[in-house]
Amino acid sequence: MSDLITMDDLSNSEIVEILDTATRLLPVAKGEIYAPLLAGKVLGNLFFENSTRTRMSFESAMKRLGGEVINLSSIGSSVSKGETLYDTMQMVQGYSDIAVIRHPNQGAAQYSADAVDIPVLNAGDGAGNHPTQTILDLFTIRQSHGTLEDLNVVLVGDLRYGRTTHSLSHALMRFGAKLTLISPKGLRMPEEIVSDLTAAGGDVSESEDMAGAISDADVIYMTRIQKERFPDEDEYIKVAGIYKMTASDLSGAKGSMIVMHPLPRVDEIDPSVDATKHAAYFDQAFNGVPTRMALLCRSLDVKVPKKVK
Ligand code: NCD
Repeated sequence: MSDLITMDDLSNSEIVEILDTATRLLPVAKGEIYAPLLAGKVLGNLFFENSTRTRMSFESAMKRLGGEVINLSSIGSSVSKGETLYDTMQMVQGYSDIAVIRHPNQGAAQYSADAVDIPVLNAGDGAGNHPTQTILDLFTIRQSHGTLEDLNVVLVGDLRYGRTTHSLSHALMRFGAKLTLISPKGLRMPEEIVSDLTAAGGDVSESEDMAGAISDADVIYMTRIQKERFPDEDEYIKVAGIYKMTASDLSGAKGSMIVMHPLPRVDEIDPSVDATKHAAYFDQAFNGVPTRMALLCRSLDVKVPKKVK
């Protein structure tokens, strides 16, 4: 049984194996072939926070592999009657073979995994981690650059509360990336993450200047300022709209540079970027399907054949 709570749960070779499996599953993800590898399996999707891509791509992944999905959200469930997460997980364990959970509290995914015997995948725990997003991010990077090794990756925006960047920076550092962390002072990457990265030998620098980081970048990973995590709305207003990328900002970029974003975007990437060769964020969102297929198969101990037919 394998949970996925943080990127520490996967070795580099396991990550590469998951990406290779996802590549083999691409025709299934696109609906070109039907491979019911997960027929008879039920996924419990537990979203205690809003989601479009994560929830739908897990659902699409499960269904395209012949599995079933049951959903719980905080609206319309007994959570609003005061049921504890522990009790909720006991029910989910009886109704499904695997659970995906998104929760506003950091640590909630680990807590849920400890409460049950079925595998649990963390789909975002507060400002903590978002490892399944990291897998699709790495898939997108490898698809564009042919490698995960030694890339120059610039992470921009809300690095304090942005859980996608917490998981991604750890993973990229392990593949030898040079990381440039761009944020306003109040939204810097948490100290303990930066010191973990540097203690492990990571090449990490911090700055507030996005424009100065564009020309050397292989990947620019934009993020949304996480309004919902600010204790005080005035603090949000001070930093809202601080980074806005437009197509003309990219004139000095390397031809192979890709712009990524976990989405949703607010105003940090102008729609003018969409038509440039650099825009990778919509393909990135699609890549949630094959990568989550690979993760579901892995956690359910279902072997994906070398040639998927
Ligand atoms: C992200 C999240 O929920 O952390 N979205 C996603 O899963 N694609 C990023 C965000 O909400 O800004």
